[in-house]
Amino acid sequence: MQRIEITADTRVLVLTGAGVSAESGVPTFRGSNGLWENQPVERVATPEGFAEDPARVWRFYSQRRAGAGACAPNPGHRTLAELEQKLGARFLLATQNVDGLHRRAGNTRLVEMHGNLFLTRCSGCDRPPFPDDTVYPAGHVPECDACAARGARAFLRPHIVWFGEMLEPADLERINDFIADARNKPFVFMAVGTSGAVYPAANLVNLAREVGARTYLVNADPADNQSRFEHFLRCESGKILPTLFDVRT
Ligand code: OAD
Repeated sequence: MQRIEITADTRVLVLTGAGVSAESGVPTFRGSNGLWENQPVERVATPEGFAEDPARVWRFYSQRRAGAGACAPNPGHRTLAELEQKLGARFLLATQNVDGLHRRAGNTRLVEMHGNLFLTRCSGCDRPPFPDDTVYPAGHVPECDACAARGARAFLRPHIVWFGEMLEPADLERINDFIADARNKPFVFMAVGTSGAVYPAANLVNLAREVGARTYLVNADPADNQSRFEHFLRCESGKILPTLFDVRT
């Protein structure tokens, strides 16, 4: 298999999805045994689902916290951390994953487009999200102490971008700026372990193509937006990523 050549002026933007963490033992969303098979999205990953039954939503995310917290980064995560080390500001990792494994592997040039399982924020006030790895017991819904100090009551919620919610504008801007800066320069865009079913992440390949990127999809199965990629490497990411990059800097 041809390796991907990264020269001294190549920019690399990597988009990851749940598949990159599958070999660490974190469940994916779609397909058989996916999280959305047993738990319909609208019940646990929408503002309406939270309004209807916040305890159900916290039970789901508490279980995911416990699960992801017990998993470790795999060779795919580690390869992306090494790539960042080598390329510095010429590298950006945009992830749809909320499991924190990229950060634990060492990536810091990282945009967590869909939030982070280990951050909590208030559903009522605009206090910043805060670190929280609490696995709440079934039926428990934590409340905001900042609101309580003002005599108000509000539930805390996971710092996750749910369906029907906007991504952080600053996150999208950071990705868009990176793409704009890569125009007319050697540029590699790679999507790894994602079904290409959720936007705006699934559109990044189109934005990258507009500025002349070479585009790669690394996925165990075909993706919804697969036709947009020049190259499709059908493989498990933990196996192929460590062998893929030929960095000449
Ligand atoms: P999906 O579950 O939709 O897709 C995971 C993809 O990874 C599938 O296409 C699998 O074939 C592939 N895959 C599985 N194991 C793999 C491996 N070892 N190596 C490479 N590929 C592998 O997950 P996402 O595309 O990440 O959003 O889903 C996107 C968003 O939809 C998620 O961020 C989540 C979900 O609803 C929110 O919760 C907001």
